[in-house]
Amino acid sequence: GMKLIAAADYQDMSQKAASIFLKQMEQKKQSVLGLATGGTVKGVYSELVDVFIEGEISFAEAASFNLDEYFGMKKEDPNSYFSYMQEQFFSKTDFALERNHIPDGTAADPMEECSRYDRLIEQAGGVDLQLLGIGENGHIGFNEPGTPFEIGTHLVRLTESTRQANARYFETMAQVPKEAITMGIGTIMKSRKIVLLASGVKKAGAIEQLWYGEVTEDFPASVLKQHPDATIIADKEALSGI
Ligand code: GLP
Repeated sequence: GMKLIAAADYQDMSQKAASIFLKQMEQKKQSVLGLATGGTVKGVYSELVDVFIEGEISFAEAASFNLDEYFGMKKEDPNSYFSYMQEQFFSKTDFALERNHIPDGTAADPMEECSRYDRLIEQAGGVDLQLLGIGENGHIGFNEPGTPFEIGTHLVRLTESTRQANARYFETMAQVPKEAITMGIGTIMKSRKIVLLASGVKKAGAIEQLWYGEVTEDFPASVLKQHPDATIIADKEALSGI
């Protein structure tokens, strides 16, 4: 079953997750890292950047695959997940940029982009360590409730609740994208190790359901109960329901 690590607060959660990444990088310099965006995981990147600046880690031989990207979004758009990753992590470390992969939100043929992305992950040898946040409705990546567990990277229509949860980054609701390209649950489940982070009282309901609820496509994160090496790291507030 899933492991649960209780953290005191956001910083403690971030440090505990960063140490799992450090251990992974120590064991394998050429690790394939599965990366996520959102507010929750920012602290992990800043911890890893600090350790990099101290000279104690190198990502020069690593590769990365991000979970998702808004569809129709140009890389250069400040709201793209590409921009987020550059800003939070890639530009501040020694990653080889040609090995930092993010779905192309401007692909003319999204279906082709999705299968290209899954092929790339496979060619890289699969993801060694996947970082995840969780949506209030249990979504992982952008796999919304009802998504079949088996499918790979695909184009999704975002739910209104997810659009609203992400609206804080945009000036108007109309600017919040309606679609995204996301790794599928099938893609995520192939990673060898998974770490899911949750912080704050807003996530307490999701963590409660993840911990006590059944495995169901109506609550996408519940699939992690079927993964051989999945760990939740949550802070006190996120754990307040369990
Ligand atoms: C978006 C991302 C998810 C992320 C979720 C939660 O929907 N696609 O990968 O887990 O937001 O974000 P936050 O960490 O900001 O609550």
